[in-house]
Amino acid sequence: MIHDVLIVGSGAAGLTLALQLPSSTQVVVLAKNTLTESSTFHAQGGIAAVLDDADTIDLHVADTLTAGAGLCDPTIVRFVAENAPAAIRRLVACGVSFTTAPGPDGTPLLHLTREGGHSRRRIVHAADATGMAVQTVLVEQTKAAPHVTLLEHTIAIDLVREPLGRGRLGRCVGVYTLDLKTGRVSLLQARVVVLASGGASKVYLYTSNPDGSTGDGIAMAWRAGCRVANLEFCQFHPTCLYHPQAKSFLITEAVRGEGGWLRLPNGQRFMEAYHPRAELAPRDIVARAIDSEMKKAGLDCVYLDISHKPAAFIIHHFPTVHAKCLEFGLDMTREPLPVVPAAHYTCGGVMTDRMGRTDVPNLYAIGECAFTGLHGANRMASNSLLECLVFGAAAADDVLGRLPDIPIPPELPSWDESCVTDSDEEVVVAHNWDELRRFMWDYVGIVRSTKRLERAKRRCELLSSEINEYYRSFRVTNDLIELRNLTLIAKLMVWSALARKESRGLHHTIDFPDSDTIAAPQNTILVPDNFLARRVL
Ligand code: FAD
Ligand code: SIN
Repeated sequence: MIHDVLIVGSGAAGLTLALQLPSSTQVVVLAKNTLTESSTFHAQGGIAAVLDDADTIDLHVADTLTAGAGLCDPTIVRFVAENAPAAIRRLVACGVSFTTAPGPDGTPLLHLTREGGHSRRRIVHAADATGMAVQTVLVEQTKAAPHVTLLEHTIAIDLVREPLGRGRLGRCVGVYTLDLKTGRVSLLQARVVVLASGGASKVYLYTSNPDGSTGDGIAMAWRAGCRVANLEFCQFHPTCLYHPQAKSFLITEAVRGEGGWLRLPNGQRFMEAYHPRAELAPRDIVARAIDSEMKKAGLDCVYLDISHKPAAFIIHHFPTVHAKCLEFGLDMTREPLPVVPAAHYTCGGVMTDRMGRTDVPNLYAIGECAFTGLHGANRMASNSLLECLVFGAAAADDVLGRLPDIPIPPELPSWDESCVTDSDEEVVVAHNWDELRRFMWDYVGIVRSTKRLERAKRRCELLSSEINEYYRSFRVTNDLIELRNLTLIAKLMVWSALARKESRGLHHTIDFPDSDTIAAPQNTILVPDNFLARRVL
């Protein structure tokens, strides 16, 4: 069967798009794990939107531009900020139960919390488990939508473009997928393909992200001929729990928003020395400050302390974080929590326009895998779920308007497995996974240098040729597909980081410690060899 729209990803971006398409459209959504295993599900803090009389769209725009350090696209920022209140209203109408508080006349209003970089309270949230509340409702609604087919445990391997003869390739017409339960590779065809596959933070040893954040969509789009941008801007969340069993569990920024302080082991606060907004400075500044304090004093971690607030307040606002920390023997109502930064968000990605269109005809990218120009050199907290909601809806409108003019794609050959065998050396994949994530952490981390980046580049080249040879010789598996993608992502990140001869936002290098104040700020755009300059869809 040929679908109208094939969506790779069941997070906030993919499901928003699926639900915005009418029942006359045949939609299929792929998830490589269960439908709820996504960054969206794990989101804690909330979604930014101007909903208070003391706040304005102009302020939301200004804060986003400041956090983005000169690289946000102001038109896109305004587009997103203006569409935020409607996106929240849609979720409320779908049944998402956000936290409320009594308004002046006693009627319940959405409670707005605060996070780094925001000059006003504007974060809509469901206590400290906003993502779970949003994802659960979106999944329920999608399951009930007769026009949507959901394929769990199905991983997209690569995009397929229509062959036009003489080696030329046309529009995107589908994806090769691996059914992770049966091991079968299939070709799924569609008139429109949408990448909504999330970020790539798993490229680092320590990350707040779930295991599936392996940058598959970005890697597939690059191989298919799309430009990617700003991949040097990896956001490190300042406060992940430091505990051997915690797997970098996130301690939401809202803890600092509601009055939490960062302290050294001797109890001293240090953020005031780094930024006038202290603990509420933009995330890049807080993460770098923690990194610097840890390096200066040889510390394993710093401490996040909100125990000066009443216990009932803490438990009311942060029930999930409180309960999780108790599992590790830490009571945040009575003691500071040990925290360290960890890789959290991929600011760069597949280049798109305001409707989510990429460089390849009929291929869209939305959500964390996309580069829209919203985040610039540093994403402001809670603008990411918002981007998923706004661009999910914008892409749906655009796809809907264009579908009648998109012909059914031709039937294409199925996957060729004639030259491959089962691997007898799975250990190579496991070993390379570890090596890659460790050298990315060591050499392409919060503070960089040209020497370390060059070292990472050499390792990337080596790994990449080894993995590509492996990929050509053996039957594909989930681990191999992800490792192939991660290796490519690492390479693109390192190239991008080497190309930026300045420090800006999330990219800080000791060889160019200042921002370039002479030339106008530039995005780092990488162009693949098979890129065809075109914008006609
Ligand atoms: P995801 O939600 O990550 O979904 C990706 C989907 O793609 C999954 O269904 C996955 O299975 C599928 N997929 C990936 N590759 C393939 C493939 N090859 N084949 C098939 N399927 C594939 N942002 C905020 O704005 N506010 C917050 O409070 C917030 N808190 C966060 C807390 C945590 C712990 C984390 C990790 C992130 C947080 N973020 C937050 C960031 C935000 O959650 C993500 O940027 C956002 O959810 C990304 O949504 P998405 O739909 O693009 O991708
Ligand atoms: C958090 O809750 O701190 C995460 C918010 C975000 O990543 O936007």
